[in-house]
Amino acid sequence: MSKITPLRVRDYRNIVVLTGAGISVASGIAPFRGPGGLWTEKDIEECATATALKLNPKKVWDAFAFVRQKSDSVPPNAAHLALAELEKHNPNTWILTQNIDGLHQKAGSKNVLELHGSIHRSQCTRYCSPPFPDKEIAFHYCKKCGAPLRYDIVLFEESLDSQIIQETAQLLEQADLFLVVGTSGIVFPAAGFIYNAQRAGAKIAVVNLEPLPYHFPCIQINGKAEEILPQLFDYS
Ligand code: APR
Repeated sequence: MSKITPLRVRDYRNIVVLTGAGISVASGIAPFRGPGGLWTEKDIEECATATALKLNPKKVWDAFAFVRQKSDSVPPNAAHLALAELEKHNPNTWILTQNIDGLHQKAGSKNVLELHGSIHRSQCTRYCSPPFPDKEIAFHYCKKCGAPLRYDIVLFEESLDSQIIQETAQLLEQADLFLVVGTSGIVFPAAGFIYNAQRAGAKIAVVNLEPLPYHFPCIQINGKAEEILPQLFDYS
């Protein structure tokens, strides 16, 4: 693990944290890429695109069912808890998460934008009614119109919620510290947020098992988020 020079939190006003699947690995939720990644076993085209949803909604549902099952039952890990603690010390801390597991909120973080939606909500595939909280693991149908249900998550070929995009842009414009934790940094628009943060003049720190696929002037801390984040913030 890289040497850690703690960040003195009182030096920053607006902290933005981009998180990816790597932050939830210690909670037992598989990432998408790399060892044990979902996309090493399943084909994105077959089970994670808007087209796949139209052709076979049950296949898409079944592909993500483990995330709903797991994230309903597992606790947040030390990395999630460290970010919740950070928000307690600096209420202008916002998490932009690509994760759909809800573990940041479970850890106590309040300021969370779920860029890719939430596995804990379902939605009618005819969009006859708004998304609703749902714990059901088995594929099932809309009570109102009988259409198949889907998770309230953003699939490939789909765009992010426009409100979330707007809020994200405002947060990045004001950021003076931008942390990137546990993401392969290859899925846009999230992968492009580091450019926004750089333009805003934010200090950038990356906590990941390996460097991001593009080189950036940043503090690169290679290692496990659950080991690094609890030591990363100096509250003195
Ligand atoms: N600590 C820190 N980083 C970790 C850890 C850990 N304990 N375990 C894994 N990682 C790193 C991996 O090295 C990898 O770079 O986390 C990253 C996980 O990458 P992905 O699995 O690609 O997850 P993510 O970047 O969140 O994927 C982005 O792709 O499939 C879509 O919508 C899905 O939100 C997802 C998006």
